[in-house]
Amino acid sequence: MKAVVVGSEATDPVLVWSDWPDPVTAPGWVTVRVLAAGLNRNDAMNVAGRLSREAPSVIGADAAGVVVEVAAGVVGWEVGDDVVVLPSLWWGDNESYPSSRFEILGDTTPGTFAEFVSVPAENVFRTPQRLSSVEAGVLPLAGVTAWRALVTRGRLQAGQRLLVTGGSGGVATFAVQIGSAIGADVQVTTSSLSKLARAVEMGASGGVVREEGWESALLDAGLFDVVLDSSGESWPQLVESLVPGGTLVSIGRTISEQAQIPIHQLFIGQRHIMGSTMGSPREFGALLAHIDETEWVPLVDSTFGFAEPSAAFTRLDQAGRIGKVAFHAAD
Ligand SMILES: NC(=O)c1ccc[n+]([C@@H]2O[C@H](COP(=O)([O-])OP(=O)(O)OC[C@H]3O[C@@H](n4cnc5c(N)ncnc54)[C@H](OP(=O)(O)O)[C@@H]3O)[C@@H](O)[C@H]2O)c1
Repeated sequence: MKAVVVGSEATDPVLVWSDWPDPVTAPGWVTVRVLAAGLNRNDAMNVAGRLSREAPSVIGADAAGVVVEVAAGVVGWEVGDDVVVLPSLWWGDNESYPSSRFEILGDTTPGTFAEFVSVPAENVFRTPQRLSSVEAGVLPLAGVTAWRALVTRGRLQAGQRLLVTGGSGGVATFAVQIGSAIGADVQVTTSSLSKLARAVEMGASGGVVREEGWESALLDAGLFDVVLDSSGESWPQLVESLVPGGTLVSIGRTISEQAQIPIHQLFIGQRHIMGSTMGSPREFGALLAHIDETEWVPLVDSTFGFAEPSAAFTRLDQAGRIGKVAFHAAD
């Protein structure tokens, strides 16, 4: 088969669509022909991280495709089934947190930026019929992250107020759509007026553009029951913007590794700060059921052929991007 192979030359990672051994369908696993695959921040970190490894490898976490081989004894799947691939490998039975074996597909297990990928049977799910292969292919990692952070961890309810930081990001756009489909009043912080307008088209009721004085504009916007933050930035203002008893769910550190807050905001306000990562197979199943019952579709910024990996990763880092970047297999 062919795959986006990450090697290194001198100090730069090199991404090349080139020959790679076909995956072997291990006992309990299913092999999928990849039709589309979303790019995630984790893939970009993996490209950079592969510099420290000697052997070239295949990354990629998200995929939608068609089953081409099912290991003997695996029930429920047939060759030709349309599936989406959940990249949470070895979550285990505990819904509170993943097992010690947990890994993201493409970190060490060969990933989805390839013609074929093999995964444990518990990581394939039926593709929602109303989504295109590209829409389904960008859903898994960012979608399950937004679902767990809002629904399982943040316990977001209809009628509550939700703030999503960095509203144009991959996880953030899913959070805006899930939050508004649940019936929450969703607001965002974002970097431009045009991105704010796009968030409103997706279901947000408004938000704040991060420009001079934006923190006071945020506090003027009223208090939030749940804040979903992927930036690690401006935590004093984010915590202050929570209602008493409200919850800040942290899923990332796009801008800052460290956050400091005045701690009286926590204990006097009885507020919660919690972390959330990815999601379990049960949570991804719940997200797919939610998609069957609602009308929103994943926001795809742009698509690229697998043979143009550098262009796709360049787009991932461009300021104007809104939503997901995807690879799409040639017909
Ligand atoms: N814990 C997990 O399971 C998990 C899963 C997925 C991702 N993550 C992490 O979550 C973060 C977001 O991932 P992603 O895939 O959604 O990335 P992404 O698509 O690259 O989105 C990042 C967004 O950050 C926003 N941003 C830029 N400067 C900001 C600032 N100063 N304050 C707030 N937002 C700012 C930008 O949106 P605007 O221009 O709209 O502000 C940008 O679109 C990354 O750090 C990633 O590693 C964690």
